Amino acid sequence: MGFIKNTQIVLANRPVAEIDPATTFRKQQVSLSDDLAPGEILVKVLFISLDPAMRGWMRDVRSYIRPVRIDEVMRSADVCQIIKSSNPDFKVGELIRAHCGWQEYSVLKPSDDVVKINAFPGISPSTFLGVLGLTGLTAYFGLFEVGEIVKKGGPNCTVVVSGAAGATGSVAAQIAKHVFGCRVIGIAGSDDKCDYLVKELGLDVALNYKSKTFFKELHAATPKLIDIFFDNTGGDILDGCLRRIAFKGRIIVCGAISTYNDAVPKGPAYYSALITQRARMEGFIVFDYAEQYGKAIEDMSKWIKEGKLKSRETVVHGIDNTPEALVKLFKGDNTGKMLVKVAEEDTKSRL
Ligand SMILES: NC(=O)c1ccc[n+]([C@@H]2O[C@H](COP(=O)([O-])OP(=O)(O)OC[C@H]3O[C@@H](n4cnc5c(N)ncnc54)[C@H](OP(=O)(O)O)[C@@H]3O)[C@@H](O)[C@H]2O)c1
Repeated sequence: MGFIKNTQIVLANRPVAEIDPATTFRKQQVSLSDDLAPGEILVKVLFISLDPAMRGWMRDVRSYIRPVRIDEVMRSADVCQIIKSSNPDFKVGELIRAHCGWQEYSVLKPSDDVVKINAFPGISPSTFLGVLGLTGLTAYFGLFEVGEIVKKGGPNCTVVVSGAAGATGSVAAQIAKHVFGCRVIGIAGSDDKCDYLVKELGLDVALNYKSKTFFKELHAATPKLIDIFFDNTGGDILDGCLRRIAFKGRIIVCGAISTYNDAVPKGPAYYSALITQRARMEGFIVFDYAEQYGKAIEDMSKWIKEGKLKSRETVVHGIDNTPEALVKLFKGDNTGKMLVKVAEEDTKSRL
């Protein structure tokens, strides 16, 4: 039996408004025993997924998941490599996705939610935290289940996506454009991101919401109004899209990152458009569709191979930089999926 030195980052204080990385989190070092009970595996964390939802997990309020406790390792989805196993179904060297949190190593039990990763050529294991992970699945189920894109999609369907250069938004926008042939307008926070959306991802139009003329541009870009709005941001962008929603339009309430740091929430002003246009605005949580993940991953893997789904990652290196990297999500520093690389994969031990 031996012990491994394990760096962890725990939640030290609940932020009231914006996250101050220095006071919100605390780094600690613990010794982790590698003495495994039957069925357990010891894993090394390779990549940590950073998600805007983490801001919500720090609030002690009723939600879809319990809050992270004070002094508890901060929760996250991670891609990990098995370094010791007492489970015949999981071999040393294999890659898995699990919720180990912000730490370097973890011992996982058979009851933990552990998913094996079968990366295919040209796909990095970290893709299983992005396009083929929860953000990609969120885009897929938001469009299919809430947006009813199978029924509404096609060249006469105008889709607007906010947070379009981010992990979820970029997948939603590409599925709407390249799988369903819709007219797609992406909204993002810089001219560089807008260039990326049009030139690299092939969207019809991209609008910078920080432009002084954004609302005029949104009006001009939606002459046939908005049939489906995939909303990742909430706030003023949601209000702008409510004013342009089409008759029987759909608003997929995926996220509201512009409001997550608000100490006091405020609602949309133009929600009465839902009445006049008989439109529907509906929220969802990706976990609701867990039983259908397999089919979604199969579809999206196919679209990646066909060149219909492209992705970028913004990778911050070193576990110590995880708190600052989380704050960067709220400043728009990422294009595509925001990740922390904690350790290199040992490719020799991978079978
Ligand atoms: N419902 C679900 O099950 C589910 C699951 C996963 C994610 N989500 C939600 O989906 C949204 C996107 O998550 P993600 O993981 O894909 O993150 P992401 O879009 O990759 O990153 C967040 C992006 O949000 C934008 N942003 C930050 N502050 C903003 C503000 N005040 N106004 C407008 N945009 C702002 C930034 O881009 P710009 O440079 O463009 O500002 C930033 O890059 C989040 O709201 C998240 O909570 C929901």
